[in-house]
Amino acid sequence: MRTQIVAGNWKMNNDLPETEALISNLKRQTKTSHAEVMVAPTFVNLYHAYEALRGFDIEVIAQNMHFADNGAFTGEVSASMLESVGVKTVILGHSERRAYFNETDEDLAKKVDTALKNNMRVIFCFGEELADRKSHNHKKVVETQIKNALFHLPDDAWKSIVLAYEPVWAIGTGETATPEQAQEMHAFIRKTIEEDAYGIDIANNVSILYGGSVKPNNAKDIFSKPDVDGGLIGGASLNAEDFFKIVNAF
Ligand code: G3P
Repeated sequence: MRTQIVAGNWKMNNDLPETEALISNLKRQTKTSHAEVMVAPTFVNLYHAYEALRGFDIEVIAQNMHFADNGAFTGEVSASMLESVGVKTVILGHSERRAYFNETDEDLAKKVDTALKNNMRVIFCFGEELADRKSHNHKKVVETQIKNALFHLPDDAWKSIVLAYEPVWAIGTGETATPEQAQEMHAFIRKTIEEDAYGIDIANNVSILYGGSVKPNNAKDIFSKPDVDGGLIGGASLNAEDFFKIVNAF
């Protein structure tokens, strides 16, 4: 049985008072599924969130990190800094970082290596643009993204990898991929891992999350698909009740 995960990516939202209010509301929610629950505040609120959620079944994770251990990288944050505030899981490769901060597959391969070197778990994001899908190039794009950033890893590294398929055209748009579209891509990704590099055991054990306009009214249908192991949630994670309706949608 693969690990089911629902992770809330808060993106650049919630100052400290808003973080405190959302966490206080999250604590009042009841989890009825077996899914692991994670929330990703911004860097400035990570430690506060970590301390506030001590003893609660909600993991605090990071939205990004740099590949260097330390140094002259103004504005960046290292793996050891994240670990020092209790963070053990990091989102890497989000499409917004690829688009706005020009993160390449090669940059991401280095970030993945640094995260694993620091015994962190990685939620690795990838997904096609609308133009890729319209030109029927979406599978090739996604295959290239995961191969360039992950297929150098040794077998045992995959126990620390979670994948997040996030079609860019579904992020923040309300244009959710259909459950069938999500299943098709997740199954393709799993098959690619199996046949092109790692075999059936690793392929069958890696959790693949879907991200892109997951809401309380569509989560159950998406999560019901055999190769969907949960979701990476943006907008809906900013409301505690909606977020837990998604957590409990399994
Ligand atoms: O990382 C998850 C995010 O990109 C999805 O955003 O608002 O479409 O759920 P949203």
